[in-house]
Amino acid sequence: MTSDATRDAPIVTAVHGGSGYVAGELLRLLALHPRFVATHVASTSQPGESVVATFPHLAGTSLDALRFASEEAVLDACTRGGPLAVFLATPHGSAAPLAKRLFAARAAAGLEGAGSRDFHVVDLSADFRFPDAAQWASIYGKPHAAPELLPRFTCTVPEHFDGDAATASSSSAAPPRHAAQPGCFTTAATCAAWPFFKLGLVESDVFVSAITGSSGSGRTPAANTHHPERHATLYAYNALSHRHEPEMRRLIGAASGDGRAPDVEFVPHSGPFVRGIHATLRMTLRREIAAEALVAQVNELHQQRARTTGGRSFVLASTSAPKLTEVVGTNKVRLGIATRGRTLVVTSVIDNLTKGAAGGAVQWMNRLFGLPDGAGLELPGLGWY
Ligand SMILES: NC(=O)c1ccc[n+]([C@@H]2O[C@H](COP(=O)([O-])OP(=O)(O)OC[C@H]3O[C@@H](n4cnc5c(N)ncnc54)[C@H](OP(=O)(O)O)[C@@H]3O)[C@@H](O)[C@H]2O)c1
Repeated sequence: MTSDATRDAPIVTAVHGGSGYVAGELLRLLALHPRFVATHVASTSQPGESVVATFPHLAGTSLDALRFASEEAVLDACTRGGPLAVFLATPHGSAAPLAKRLFAARAAAGLEGAGSRDFHVVDLSADFRFPDAAQWASIYGKPHAAPELLPRFTCTVPEHFDGDAATASSSSAAPPRHAAQPGCFTTAATCAAWPFFKLGLVESDVFVSAITGSSGSGRTPAANTHHPERHATLYAYNALSHRHEPEMRRLIGAASGDGRAPDVEFVPHSGPFVRGIHATLRMTLRREIAAEALVAQVNELHQQRARTTGGRSFVLASTSAPKLTEVVGTNKVRLGIATRGRTLVVTSVIDNLTKGAAGGAVQWMNRLFGLPDGAGLELPGLGWY
């Protein structure tokens, strides 16, 4: 972090994937953010069009005069120097080539090294979630477009990052410059399992059943996500073969610290609602512990980490079963803990578009710029929606 980013000056912010659902949620959050100002929003399909015409719910905000620009125009704007935040909210497979062009354009403009310390990218696609290009290729079925950029990105839930992203890292050689937001199912499941692995309280098997709302599928309609097909029904899909399962294995495994991947089994479901993920995890305790004692340990762990990293935990556990309506429209994660003998069940609710995507990404960007984690994210829930 350089002195530029510590001043109160606005930080120029670019968003790619402009007309998508995640970009829309990003723009909603950025409209309220004290430092990040959405100045450049790239759209491949509607350059020149009004942003609030696509997102009428954002009209009457600082975004009123903003127009989508072409990818090229936004990349060009990213070569002008000064503090810059870039969010990539494009489909997987398209973010890596875009990042490659962005880094190349900045290098060509002489904006590398020390002169580029206030430049941070947060990717919301899957392109920078695995450090290993071969693993990414085996999951996504094609070669990674920018394997040389993978070491520049860190991927984890911000609450689980061991170190201070903006200054120095306690566990890794160098602080991350850029971050990848984990997937939405991954965020809900990892937030539920991570504390128990971190505290060494559970065996290595994790069963995850999770239900997502339709906004998880993005803006483009498909036969199986079309409103009449899913609005009043519930169905599982990709049982034990969803792409977020290896992400969960990696991020939950990182908590145990012994390098072993946990045995995660994941069954996703499509639910009859628009926003939110409700995940239920079953794990096995190493010894019997009452749910109330686990709640206290989980909350203390998060508070203690927030104190030492200077971060902010959006995760809160209790013995009550949490409802989606408590978190929709917010960056919160609510966990409900129940036990019987050594059986542990944790329910976890998040908003897929907020904590599972745009909110988590803004939280990361706050960290990377040395801003308080909660800047622009202290949102009350909607209660009903
Ligand atoms: N929806 C969720 O809950 C969620 C949660 C976590 C992560 N994500 C991830 O976030 C990203 C965006 O998701 P989304 O739900 O917003 O999807 P979306 O609604 O389909 O929006 C993606 C946008 O990206 C742009 N785009 C499409 N193809 C492109 C290409 N080849 N190159 C560059 N831009 C392209 C399009 O905007 P323009 O036409 O304006 O360019 C499109 O509207 C995806 O990688 C997704 O996996 C989504």
